Amino acid sequence: MNPLILTLLHSFFLLLSSQHAALAAPNTRLVRCSKDRFARDDACCVWYDVLDDVQENLFDRGKCGAEARESLRIMFHDAIGYSESAIKAGKFGGGGADGSMMAHADVELEFKGNIGMDEIINEQRPFALKHHVPFGDFIQFAGAVGLSNCHGAPRLQFLAGRSNHSRPAPDEGLIPAPFHTADQIFARMKDAGFSPEEVVALSAAHSVGAQHQLDPSINNAPLDSTPEEFDSQFFLETLLEGTHYPGDSSALAEDKSPLRGQFRIHSDGLLARDHRSACEWQSFITDQDGMNRKFARVMAKVSLLGQDPSKLVDCSEVIPDVRPARRQRAVLPAGKTRKDVEANCVESSFPSLNTQPGPPTFIRPAPSRPT
Ligand code: HEM
Ligand SMILES: *[C@@H]1O[C@H](CO)[C@@H](O)[C@H](O)[C@H]1NC(C)=O
Repeated sequence: MNPLILTLLHSFFLLLSSQHAALAAPNTRLVRCSKDRFARDDACCVWYDVLDDVQENLFDRGKCGAEARESLRIMFHDAIGYSESAIKAGKFGGGGADGSMMAHADVELEFKGNIGMDEIINEQRPFALKHHVPFGDFIQFAGAVGLSNCHGAPRLQFLAGRSNHSRPAPDEGLIPAPFHTADQIFARMKDAGFSPEEVVALSAAHSVGAQHQLDPSINNAPLDSTPEEFDSQFFLETLLEGTHYPGDSSALAEDKSPLRGQFRIHSDGLLARDHRSACEWQSFITDQDGMNRKFARVMAKVSLLGQDPSKLVDCSEVIPDVRPARRQRAVLPAGKTRKDVEANCVESSFPSLNTQPGPPTFIRPAPSRPT
């Protein structure tokens, strides 16, 4: 072929490919994934497909339901099987956020702190297998997506690329349990690298929580009055004086609750009142933005326990945008007054809050699985 024509052809193709690149990359170098969605790295594209699948088929078309809440819970339980003191002593200290809870469910689901998690692990596993993604990545991804379905929740970071190889967490004692004392919880969390303030920030997860195995007679009894909202209502309601047992008073770690239909986890009541955590706890009641910011920051740390972030790829763009909060500030439940608050922060006085009008209401159960 004539060299001139060759040169022309060559520049024509260069032009074509640079135009293609320009189309695919509005700003920086982005790759185009399915359905015209963009990612910063090829490795992230698979997560858009996982996203579509879990939103439709795991979270029942994008709901903040039982599967979303439990997916958030496993993010923590998979990761927290990690001990710095064991590692310092030259022992296996656990792989952190490594998927061991799914890979070694036969061992880890027997741990007392993991009560109530078998259903969600068994529901999640087929999605991870179908999309050929590591169990550790999947658990962190599904939790962040599930949380994005709850109004008011922050957008969590998601990094992909964890090894799919894991060993069972070395000791059942690594999982905080609802019957533990504040001392036990703070000591355990410190051994995984978390301060009491960070434990308080993490407790915000219980804002979208319910219980279903501590007291099976009142399945789905929520931990605050707004289980589909990620809000600071939880931090207020855990400080109200407990007046009655909502279900079977002999249930494991069940404390008296201030509201009909609601469940108080024993350790939540302790952390709300402990001198190391009471002020941070109280501060969230009127600072939902701070609560969200801190929760997102500490969850990023949870998701990277035992992992080397320099070996992971940031795929946070795949996590859906937030759904705005429907209320900005906690309100005293109907029938409650400042006198019912057992405030224990000595540094600052308790904020003045509005009260929900009307007679006391029964707190309805959190949404259960679709039947
Ligand atoms: C540190 C001490 C903690 C203890 C003792 C604890 C304990 C519990 C217990 C006993 C339940 C009820 C489970 C059931 O009956 O089904 C629960 C629910 C839950 N926990 Fe925690 N938790 C702790 C920290 C965390 C953290 C850090 C997270 C962060 C992701 C978290 C997320 C959740 C969620 C989302 C639920 C609701 C699950 C549902 O609605 O089914 N928890 N927790
Ligand atoms: C991850 O490990 C499990 C076994 O624990 C295996 O069944 C699964 O196929 C592995 N997934 C990938 C993507 O390698």
